[in-house]
Amino acid sequence: MISRRNALLGGARLIGALAGGIVPGLGAGAASAATSAAGTTRRIPYGACVNFTPFLNEAEYRIAFETYCQQVTPEYGLFWGYLRPTRNQFVFDYADKVLAFADLNEMTMRGHTLVWYGAMPDWTKQIGSAAEAERELTLHIEKVVGRYRGRIKTWQVVNEPIDDVKDGAAGLRPSIWLQQLGPKYLDMAFRLAHQADPAAELLINEYDVECVGASYAARRQALLTLVRELLARGVPLHGVGLQGHIQGKYEIDDDGVSSFVSEIKSLGLSVHVTELDVIDKEFAGPITVRDAMVAGRAYDFLNAIFAAERPSAIGTWGITDRYTWVPTWNKRADGLANRPLPLDDHYRPKPLWSVIDYFCQKAP
Ligand code: G3I
Repeated sequence: MISRRNALLGGARLIGALAGGIVPGLGAGAASAATSAAGTTRRIPYGACVNFTPFLNEAEYRIAFETYCQQVTPEYGLFWGYLRPTRNQFVFDYADKVLAFADLNEMTMRGHTLVWYGAMPDWTKQIGSAAEAERELTLHIEKVVGRYRGRIKTWQVVNEPIDDVKDGAAGLRPSIWLQQLGPKYLDMAFRLAHQADPAAELLINEYDVECVGASYAARRQALLTLVRELLARGVPLHGVGLQGHIQGKYEIDDDGVSSFVSEIKSLGLSVHVTELDVIDKEFAGPITVRDAMVAGRAYDFLNAIFAAERPSAIGTWGITDRYTWVPTWNKRADGLANRPLPLDDHYRPKPLWSVIDYFCQKAP
């Protein structure tokens, strides 16, 4: 169980920021009013991932995106697992519908993701040679990026290439691509995406680089090393996505994140917050206190990034507590629902929304 003192540290800094009037609209505990996406004065776009089932069936869910977002990302509609149920099939309905919604609402859509170890359909286990892997990767990227050429402006080309930390270091995560093509699978993926849409911004996307601790530091270092190696090989890499699935039980490594982001900036790369949510599994206390802790952790994370660079976008992984991946692996011992996202399960803005809204409107 997280110590109350530790957890409140994040919240305390947030509350301190409130006292200084830095984060307006939170002092009363009520979140700031929603800023309509259409009429937003927002300088940095805010977006969220879209789960297909509520998107199709619940008007309130769609209205939340229309009210708060300038960007949308299909949560799993561009995974191989959804797009490619069989080797010869492409199922674009999910991505097409979300893109049509984005167009209708003057939003942009982010492509997530072209190459990942996860959510792969069973048939890909039959890929048994480098030549076959190259053929399938080429076909996939050419077809998918080509379909959305000029319409999806930002692609999270490779997702989570860094492995878990072992003996203090983190190498490349095993995948069918690494197994068959070696580390150059990353080069291939980015070059193919760039050829398919030369105007698209191409990102590498990673998690667990936010908090204090040796493993987080090792993952930041591994990601920086990988990024430098890719740039040194002339790979068309344009930015880094920081997922931001914040483990609430740990403090944000303010200095670690700021210097990490400064390094990314010094390499000429953009920074995107792509999947922000706060895993509140260990947070105790009344809802108002838990929500302040969640907002506090997010405030510390975004504040550390902004100390070094303005992110190109701030995205959360879902928009409402009603639909979040967090309980899949992080159910609370007390049986209460997780509260990781900016809107509660009745689409009411929470303190986390005020923090995001504050940073999106923060003047350069
Ligand atoms: O419900 C549909 C079903 O109708 C459909 O026939 C089937 C076809 O594949 O998909 C089902 O949806 C599943 C979906 O979860 C339900 O919400 C998808 O199979 C499944 O892939 C999906 O899992 C996603 C998971 O990544 C895959 O590992 C989660 O939505 C998604 O939130 C999660 O997101 C990841 C990011 O991509 C990377 N960062 C971590 C993040 C959280 O794990």
